[in-house]
Order: sequence, then C-alpha cells, then structure tokens
Amino acid sequence: MLILGIETSCDDTGASVLRVDGAERTVLSSILSSQVVHQEYGGVVPELASRAHLTALAPMVRRALDQAGVTLADIDAVAATFMPGLVGSLLVGLTFAKSLAWSRGIPFVGVNHIEAHLLAVCLEEPDLAPPFLGLVVSGGHTEFILVEDWGRYRLLGSTLDDAAGEAFDKVGQLLGLPYPGGPSIDKTARAGGDPHAFAFPRGLRKRDDCDVSFSGLKTAVRLAVEKLGPEEAQRRVADLAASFQEAVVASLEDKFAWALRHTGARHAVLAGGVAANSALRNRLTERAASEGALLHLTPMRFCTDNAAMIAWVGALKLQHGIRSDWGLAAVPAFEAVPLNWR
Ligand code: KG4
Ligand code: ZN
Repeated sequence: MLILGIETSCDDTGASVLRVDGAERTVLSSILSSQVVHQEYGGVVPELASRAHLTALAPMVRRALDQAGVTLADIDAVAATFMPGLVGSLLVGLTFAKSLAWSRGIPFVGVNHIEAHLLAVCLEEPDLAPPFLGLVVSGGHTEFILVEDWGRYRLLGSTLDDAAGEAFDKVGQLLGLPYPGGPSIDKTARAGGDPHAFAFPRGLRKRDDCDVSFSGLKTAVRLAVEKLGPEEAQRRVADLAASFQEAVVASLEDKFAWALRHTGARHAVLAGGVAANSALRNRLTERAASEGALLHLTPMRFCTDNAAMIAWVGALKLQHGIRSDWGLAAVPAFEAVPLNWR
C-alpha cells in the first residue's frame, strides 16, 4: 500500500510517500518546507501561514511523488492532519487531501497530529507494539499518554500552562538566542554550560501525578537575567541555558518515572520536537533503564513536524478498516477524547 501524507498544522508544509507492506514500513520520501515569512514578526502569523501553505502544497506533493519515484496513479490513499493546529493551516492541507482522494476515488484518512508524533518511532521500529508509555513534548504540547492498544489511548497528564517547547522558545528569546529556542539552548548548554549554576524551580514537583508546569520556571529565568544585567547575562548565557534545560529535563524525568511506575509499562517512547534535545534523550534513557523499562527514541528526522508520521498513522488506521468521512472538519484544539478511534 502506498500512502501520501500531508502535514500543514502550523508553519511547515510537509508531504511524504510511505510504503506499507504488512509490518514493513518504507519512507520513500519526506519533505518539508519551513515558512520564512514569519521571521520578521518573531512568531507565526496564522493568516500568512495558511496563504503560504496554499502556494507551497501542490509543488511539495509533486516533489514528494517525484522523489519517491511514483505517480499519483500509484497512490492508494491520502492522509492529512485534521487536528490540532491553526485552523486556516489545517484547512488547506485537509481540503487539498480530500479533493485529491475524491478525484482519484481512493480513501482519505484524517490524522491527529499528536498521535502521529507519538507513533512516529514505529516508522523505524516495526516490532514496537502496545502497551507502551508515550511522552510527547513539542512546541504546542506536553502530554503523557498510555498507548493501551493501536487507536486506544489514556491521557495520564499534561502541562498546566506552557508546553515544553514553548518554554524553550520563550527562554531562548529572553537569552537573545536565535529562534527556535529549543535547538539554540541545547547547543549553548552543551558549550560548557553548568546545569547547576542556577537553581531554577521545578513546577508541581511534589505532586504525585504526571502533570507539569513551566510558567514559574520561565519567570525565574527572567528574574535571574534581570538581576544579572544584560552584560553579565550574556557572559553567563551557557550557564543560564544549561540550568534552564536541567530544570525542564528534571521535571519531565520525575513525572516520567512516576508514569512508568503507575502504569507498570515496560516500554516507553519519547516523541515530538523537544525529543530532539540531547540532555532529555540521555536522561530519560538512563532513567527508563533504572526503572526496568526500555525507552525507544524517535529518530531525529521524525521528532519535529514531518509528513511521514502522518502517512504512517493514516496507514495504521486503514489497516484497521478506518477511513474518514468527506465531511471531516478541521479541529484547532487538542481534545484527548478524539485520540481514540477504536
Ligand atoms: O514537534 P514540533 O516540530 O512542532 C510542534 O508540533 O509543536 O516541535 C517544535 C518545538 C519547538 O518549540 C523547538 O524549539 C523544539 O521543538 N525543539 C527543541 C529541540 N529541537 C526542537 N527543544 C529542545 N531541544 C532541541 N534540540
Ligand atoms: Zn508537531
């Protein structure tokens, strides 16, 4: 089966062709075009994002087909993100995907972006099967999810305020580092930063659950920067970055260990853009091992937004006999319930 995947939930236009034969999964192409139009605004402008998707999408799909060495006539189904994300951006990919599938008389499947992040690791680990624990940490999300079975999920906890990636991006801005803050902080911290130079708070640390909070941490970094003054803050930027990163990693690690014990899960996955963070990858791998579990790391190229993960969940749904209605609407907000499709 050949699936075309389309991702347009935020400011990246993605297209991918995936071949799925039984347990075999081969990403024939996965391309992404990041919109530069937002740079001068310091954040994503929703209306500009949807217009940029409109012009980028058709040529991207053509390139993805070309790179895969196939034509539209070879495609068996089309999958696209329908939630969560910016509504205008979602609508472009969703409408394009439906129209294409309708015109070719092939199935269309809507995919939840969070589910796609969560299961992206399966693209390269065909033996991984539920039950397993998932931690999705991205620019918009921080969720602990138990994958009970394919299509059956239990939300265990999430952030009460900022998402982990959002905290990285805001603190990156505060430290004067290039956008997006996540990779910049990761790199700066590795350049000799002392993770214990500043004792930053870990929100909800004492609570026996797997909810997290990053807004207090963000404020603590801002106050530390103000106290140091601009020159000293610049001189100690590696220490600030490393100490902030340590606080994020430590709070995720505490709650991750709690979730492992609470669910008894023996396998776990780390997913989403922030899963590219080197410190987080190392610490959670060690912690899982000491809790008697195995952590499966999402390959770097499938951590941040991509369309291969969308194609993969589309294929999974089709394998279970699920296809979407032509009337499927774009849903901007994340709601845990629609994650379940079985
Ligand atoms: O999954 P993603 O591409 O988009 C969303 O669905 O949100 O995640 C993007 C987020 C950004 O906040 C970015 O700063 C963060 O992932 N990120 C990182 C790293 N690479 C990307 N955060 C920490 N360390 C990294 N190495
Ligand atoms: Zn994402």
